[in-house]
Amino acid sequence: MAHIVLACTHGAARATSSSNKVLQMLKSNKPIPSGWDQLAEWYDGWMGVAGSHHHRKLALPAVLDLLQLQSGQHILDLGAGQGVLAPFISQHNATYVGVDVSPRLLNLARRRHAAHGRFIHADARHLPRLQHLSPASFDAVVFMLSIEDMEPLNQVIHAASWALREGGRVVILMRHPCFRVPRQSGWGHDEQRKLQYRRVDRYLTPLSVPMKPYPGQSRGVSISFHRPLGHYINELVQQNLLIDSLREITTYQQGQTTAEQDAFAEIPLFLALRARKLSLTP
Ligand SMILES: C[S@@+](CC[C@H](N)C(=O)[O-])C[C@H]1O[C@@H](n2cnc3c(N)ncnc32)[C@H](O)[C@@H]1O
Repeated sequence: MAHIVLACTHGAARATSSSNKVLQMLKSNKPIPSGWDQLAEWYDGWMGVAGSHHHRKLALPAVLDLLQLQSGQHILDLGAGQGVLAPFISQHNATYVGVDVSPRLLNLARRRHAAHGRFIHADARHLPRLQHLSPASFDAVVFMLSIEDMEPLNQVIHAASWALREGGRVVILMRHPCFRVPRQSGWGHDEQRKLQYRRVDRYLTPLSVPMKPYPGQSRGVSISFHRPLGHYINELVQQNLLIDSLREITTYQQGQTTAEQDAFAEIPLFLALRARKLSLTP
């Protein structure tokens, strides 16, 4: 699928040599050192053991609510990062396996959460090639704020479906692709109508976007992949994954003004969905 690489539109920063390297490797379909590897120590400092404020208020509750964990289940976390989900899975007496392509993040995950699960260094796109994992062996696969960092989408969803047993579920939490297009969306103010609105400059064209550095982050950038919502739904359907729950989630932040409060309450910035793997046997 053709992606436009947004390197320097609208005065945004140019792609760095490291983000160019990641994009070239993506095109060649070789295993990639995620842009996140260079950000590992910064990310871990932001996350800590229990997750960032953002994770505790929004990401973890949304994922756990959709997962509906039961004791004894096997959960695969793709793009596990420094493993923040692991303790929440093990406290339900479920088993946790985290996969990530960043060796540094995995070292931090093992340091912080080794007691709560197993961490495997692998590219999520190539799961079926791994000797450590068997097909149809997981009850659920989770992508928590990670699917937007993976490309191509069809390989990643195929890998998730490969890992799931029939009836198993995939849970995805991501930035809402309809309202958050990296570098191509934002808030605007209508002085006359005294309201805050959401501006979306581009939507339908898939984009590869080197992200702006986060506050306090001094090294490297990660790359985010924007796709319209239909791409996610169609790829899930292609892999016999049927959506049975979809939630559009607003920010937990409090607006300062009435206009901001109204906008924060009306425009969902995150999307969480659950899809079940259909049984193909009659
Ligand atoms: C924004 S971080 C989210 C990490 C974690 N899920 C969390 O919520 O803290 C995205 C993660 O996806 C990982 N990632 C990106 N592409 C990947 C791939 N192809 N295979 C496995 N992990 C990948 C990155 O290394 C990074 O750890």
